[in-house]
Amino acid sequence: MPHSKSHETPAQKIERLRETLRHHEHLYYVLDQPEITDAEYDAMMQELRKLEEAHPELITPDSPTQRVGGKPREGFVKVAHSSPMLSLDNALNEAELRDFDRRVRELLGGGHFRYVAELKLDGLSMAARYRDGVFVQAVTRGDGLVGEDVTENARTIRSLPLRVAGTEDTFETRGEALMNRKSFEKVNAEQEAQGKPRFANPRNAAAGALRALEPWVTASRKLDYQPYFLLKDGAAMEKSHWASLERLKEMGFKVNENRKLCADIEEGVAFCNEWEAKRDSLPYEIDGVVFKVDSVAQQERLGWTAKAPRWAIAYKFPPRQARTVVEDIRVQVGRTGALTPVAVLRPVDIGGVTVSRATLHNEDEVARLGLEIGDTVLVERSGDVIPKVVRVVHEGAQRRRFHMPAKCPECGSEVVREPGAVAWRCINVDCPARLKESVLHFASRGVMDIDGMGEVLVDQLVDRGLVKSVADLYELTVEDLAGLERMAEKSAKKVHANIQASRKRPLPRVLNGLGIPMVGERTAQILAGTFGSLDEIADAPLETLQEAEEVGPKVAEAIRSFFDEPRNRKLVERLRKAGLVFTHEKTPRKAAHAGPLAGKVFVLTGTLPNLAREEAKERIEAAGGKVTGSVSKKTSYVVVGDEPGSKLDKARELGIPTLNEEGLLDMLK
Ligand code: IVH
Repeated sequence: MPHSKSHETPAQKIERLRETLRHHEHLYYVLDQPEITDAEYDAMMQELRKLEEAHPELITPDSPTQRVGGKPREGFVKVAHSSPMLSLDNALNEAELRDFDRRVRELLGGGHFRYVAELKLDGLSMAARYRDGVFVQAVTRGDGLVGEDVTENARTIRSLPLRVAGTEDTFETRGEALMNRKSFEKVNAEQEAQGKPRFANPRNAAAGALRALEPWVTASRKLDYQPYFLLKDGAAMEKSHWASLERLKEMGFKVNENRKLCADIEEGVAFCNEWEAKRDSLPYEIDGVVFKVDSVAQQERLGWTAKAPRWAIAYKFPPRQARTVVEDIRVQVGRTGALTPVAVLRPVDIGGVTVSRATLHNEDEVARLGLEIGDTVLVERSGDVIPKVVRVVHEGAQRRRFHMPAKCPECGSEVVREPGAVAWRCINVDCPARLKESVLHFASRGVMDIDGMGEVLVDQLVDRGLVKSVADLYELTVEDLAGLERMAEKSAKKVHANIQASRKRPLPRVLNGLGIPMVGERTAQILAGTFGSLDEIADAPLETLQEAEEVGPKVAEAIRSFFDEPRNRKLVERLRKAGLVFTHEKTPRKAAHAGPLAGKVFVLTGTLPNLAREEAKERIEAAGGKVTGSVSKKTSYVVVGDEPGSKLDKARELGIPTLNEEGLLDMLK
């Protein structure tokens, strides 16, 4: 934490805080080596915000507080590029790469030259412009001559410096805006939770985020920017490409470290082979290696064709896609009971791996693909994720429609689809297919923490009928355990003792262990702290559940239907008898958040023109307000979108003021 200095003017203090924050942003987002905790960072940011609020005349666009502006846009302004942003020619195999090398050698007339080999990042290219060291504009590639101005969205990318220290310069960087696999999975999980289609790959998700009309959507999707060109007036700023990359790094940009200065194409081929084998170890997707002649003077001699430079080439990794026939579609039941359709494929080799199954995610995805059993499809394997079906290539002669089963394929219980969710779930907590997964979850570290309760043991316990529900764990004897394969008396005693010790775990862990959909560690903590006992939670009506922080209508609904299922109630009773902890100390309610909407309670109804429901909720909460699911006398405002439901009638009946999206955004300012 920077020490306050009493003799400082507010302007000096603001500048000192900004510099410290920039330094820590660089450590965190570019170098991935944070030196302070998130809380310390937040406290400093808060201090800066307060000072800027008191002195709005001192706010500058490069302040760390200015990353997420506010206003949604109508569309994007078109901007001309300083020099064409062309594409690269491709080399689809080693021979084509060697052809490229031969051409370069011939054109350079035998002189000495080197290549810079870089990873080909699978995102979208973007130019970021700086004036006097301050970020002023970001432009997408567009058609290469004219792109779209995405400045406000790019500002939210934390690895993009808003100010470059030590330069008072005007320059442009060009590079790749990309999304890592973890953020991609998160974005798709959110899409699913909102009943929206999944993005096919991180590149599409990054493009969607960068071109979102609302900058806060871009911000929440956590993009990264890795530049590979440094230009001044449309031309290279340094004498060599390698020097440009080093310069960019010094300026504080996140330059990809996996690059190599190659003395010849042999070193280049080795680099390609190395990364083709290692690509899955990266947290983001790459689809090849880019070679650039290092010397800018030599680049100029080689020149350009109409489409691409003659001094660079993209070596593309062989595709990890293949065609095959969908022979069947089966339904798998996961731990939370989610039913996942899985394509059973005619086995096919994709990049050295035989693939015979591909996930179809959910019913909507099958419909989106227009897939039926018997169709020939394109299947893709990427990263270490489960292979997926990209699209239908041609329809089978005797194709068969897939239908989601009306009952759980494993136990015949009812399946439900929660409003707004895409997944159907089996409601039976004792469903055998769910059982092994749920026992493993229950026993896992961070939940009930039963050491020794691994897959091999759980398989045997379930297969021999010793465990039909997690409650049975507490009735196991040492003899039961010792009777299992590969279980010595001593280990049986240990596991038994570990099970007994788990009875003492606090309520949030018990709640998490139950496997209620959408109730993970954090929500369990909040629920236990808000209601103080499992019985209070299990009996709470929907509206009461939603009074807990971060519990929206979907989560409340999931909790309600879980406890409304008699079998789950029975499980709870057995766990109570086993002596598990059912009460918890209540956390005192936080004083109403500070913020323009502190103390205000909102209800949303209908579809808003720009804001998705979750975004509207997030923004209201960020401003200190609360969002609940039903209109009552306590409601301050009802926000009304297209096709509002009965909530609008209720608001009118109770005389509660209504707002449209514009009105809400005004209040949020
Ligand atoms: S250089 C004049 N370097 O690949 C050509 N491009 O196929 C400028 N890409 O549009 C491109 N990683 O979006 C270059 N290290 C890298 C790259 C890279 C990914 C993308 C970029 C470009 C496309 C060309």
